[in-house]
Amino acid sequence: MRYEETVRKCVQALQQRGSARILAIETSCDETAAAVVEDGRRILSSVIASQVETHALYGGVVPEIASRQHIEAVDAVVAQALEQAGMALQDVDAVAVTQGPGLVGALLVGVSCAKALAYGARLPLVPVNHIEGHICANYLAHAACRPPFVCLVASGGHSNVVEVQDYGVYTLLGSTLDDAAGEAFDKAARVLGLPYPGGPLLDKLSAQGNPDALPLPKPRLEGRYDFSFSGLKTALINRVHQLRQAGQDIPAADIAASFQKAVVEQLVSKALLAAKDRGAAALAVAGGVSANSLLRARLEEGAAHLGIPCYLPPLSLCTDNAAMIGSAAFWRLMRGELAGLDLNAVPSLSLPF
Ligand code: KG4
Ligand code: ZN
Repeated sequence: MRYEETVRKCVQALQQRGSARILAIETSCDETAAAVVEDGRRILSSVIASQVETHALYGGVVPEIASRQHIEAVDAVVAQALEQAGMALQDVDAVAVTQGPGLVGALLVGVSCAKALAYGARLPLVPVNHIEGHICANYLAHAACRPPFVCLVASGGHSNVVEVQDYGVYTLLGSTLDDAAGEAFDKAARVLGLPYPGGPLLDKLSAQGNPDALPLPKPRLEGRYDFSFSGLKTALINRVHQLRQAGQDIPAADIAASFQKAVVEQLVSKALLAAKDRGAAALAVAGGVSANSLLRARLEEGAAHLGIPCYLPPLSLCTDNAAMIGSAAFWRLMRGELAGLDLNAVPSLSLPF
């Protein structure tokens, strides 16, 4: 029987059963990750090989190096994920992979690996949007989290306010007009002399600073739920240059705390406004920046004020991982949304709005 025919029958059986164990692969940026996830909700294993130490030498992700390290790591990471789940490849029901957005060379490693595994084991191949994966991290962490809800997505490459209407059904409410929140944190951290990736370090440093020390501009935006971070970044850079030129010490903790407060205030105010306007039943957050301590505290306060639950993924599920890809893939698989063996990486893939 041809691969396509085998897979079609297999998906029909899975849809009838309403259950699936999915091997997921994520290689969109600088983490090589694989996981086995059951029914979109239970993590049977999750393995992450981080390249962060290598890229830190260069102050940011070097795409060519990322691709090469993914190639070196991916087979072992997949093998480890299967082993930790106590399964062989034949025991899983489908293979999922991040199709985009991300670095094209990095994505291609995961896509090629997933295609080979799916073809070899005659398993369905499920393409997943990385941003959708971040949102679905909430399904793994919180059994009660189910659509509809409003989700703030804040990662190194994306900042959006999204209404999750159903599993896999999204409405985009707002976006950043310039930098993503994580990108803004990383750039500000670099100016303050912190190594890459600066976001988590800026978060820690802020704990020792005065968040009201540096006045920062509030952007005026037409879009009700949009953000802009480039003005904040410019104000921070100008302040640091002024102090350096005047031969003064840089109060790094105060500047970090002020910058963090300004970024978080924008993210939180827009997410809460959207939740209120839409009468959301719950508020969730997703993406690497959702690890930020101030953001988590403010979102919880705001959601409590609105009287709705606030879903925060644990830190291990905020940053890139493959378990979130395995979760998103479950509902796509149940709807029969599969890829053929001609699947390609799409570096600028947007959410299916
Ligand atoms: O989602 P992610 O792991 O990768 C992308 O898909 O982009 O997000 C990484 C981003 C980086 O910019 C990193 O600095 C930021 O998330 N980040 C944080 C914190 N932890 C990670 N930013 C602020 N505070 C944190 N605690
Ligand atoms: Zn990510």
